[in-house]
Amino acid sequence: MLRLRGQSKEYQSNFNEDSMLILSSDKNLPDPLKQKYAYIIEDEEKEIPKNFGAYVTFDNQIFALNNENNFYLIPDYMNYLLPGDIVNFKSDGHIWAVFRESARYNTFLLTERCNHYCLMCSQPPKSREDSWLLDIAKKAVELIPRSTQRIGFSGGEPTIYKEGLIDLIEKCAGYLPYTGIDILTNGRAFANSEYSKMLQNADHKDCMICIPLYSDVPELHDYVVQSEDAFDETIKGILNLKALNQKVEIRIVIHKQTIDRLVKTCEYIARNLLFVDHVALMGLEITGFTRANLDDLWIDPYEYKDILSEAVDVLNRYKIPASVYNHQLCTVNDDVINNYVHSISDWKNEYITECKNCSKRHECGGFFSSQVLYRHSDHIKAFE
Ligand SMILES: C[S@@+](CC[C@H](N)C(=O)[O-])C[C@H]1O[C@@H](n2cnc3c(N)ncnc32)[C@H](O)[C@@H]1O
Ligand code: SF4
Repeated sequence: MLRLRGQSKEYQSNFNEDSMLILSSDKNLPDPLKQKYAYIIEDEEKEIPKNFGAYVTFDNQIFALNNENNFYLIPDYMNYLLPGDIVNFKSDGHIWAVFRESARYNTFLLTERCNHYCLMCSQPPKSREDSWLLDIAKKAVELIPRSTQRIGFSGGEPTIYKEGLIDLIEKCAGYLPYTGIDILTNGRAFANSEYSKMLQNADHKDCMICIPLYSDVPELHDYVVQSEDAFDETIKGILNLKALNQKVEIRIVIHKQTIDRLVKTCEYIARNLLFVDHVALMGLEITGFTRANLDDLWIDPYEYKDILSEAVDVLNRYKIPASVYNHQLCTVNDDVINNYVHSISDWKNEYITECKNCSKRHECGGFFSSQVLYRHSDHIKAFE
């Protein structure tokens, strides 16, 4: 698992506050642009180019040889950083890789606050004020390359910012008009039709609102998210968004509490929400609250593979675009392969010893680091 944040052991900083910069090894950048970049010193260069916003190196020796202002020695565990990556530097030596150009997909955590308390929450809610996370995302949007295909914004619950989230989406529409954005939200805020209209007015051409629906039984959905009236408001939110022609994805995390109604939930979607744009059937990440509630949540994916096939079949028959995320190829039936997606973010993606000689390893999504550490299927078996 890649560590996205670190502490520089050696640094000299004149920054008064955070400075977010793009890494570059191009010493010939035009002068007016250089302040937006942190120059990577890789070798013993005779003349270090002047006027960059900061300087970084991965090498102790090189750090010792130079005395540039705003100069950071990158910790070894962050040596994956490359030119084009966007890094937030703090005056106390803290370094945070907020965007990696080489990653398939970058997600921005906008807050840890939430109005749900899901049994399996991978990002357990905290109540402290953390709107600086929204500011970081807003700054990053100004620096992300326009060629970026897709990025995601998650939480906590991003809609707690109300207009603040809409401002961010508007900013994306301006700076990143060709980049698809996913907003991960419990969807309840969109039960307010005025708020749904505000999203529509932000006018991003490719904005997917990704909303979990854990069961067709209202009480069960409310139980999973630990909040009363959640089901009703979530459905109302989905209906409001679709009435305004906004894109909506429904997400179902599969675990012991949701598996029994999985097929029925897909049938409910097909009958009542046929117009949604995508359904994601997601394997369980063993992190956050899931670790504490593991006995109530864990079910081996191999045991539910026939149910998964049935659920996918329902969605396919109704022609609702559907994907299976976060599963290993050897735990699913062949009939879901067309819906199977290699979905785990590269920075938390791993394989285990059994995978070493697997002929399908390159097609397989592998594991979350947390699954490797705490729990994964007992039926992992290499394909010959
Ligand atoms: C942490 S939530 C935050 C966004 C929003 N508050 C929500 O409830 O969707 C982001 C996504 O993670 C999914 N999720 C939560 N816990 C998970 C887990 N243990 N494994 C896999 N996905 C999980 C949710 O379904 C949701 O789509
Ligand atoms: S053995 Fe490993 S690589 Fe092969 S399908 Fe199973 S999990 Fe994937």
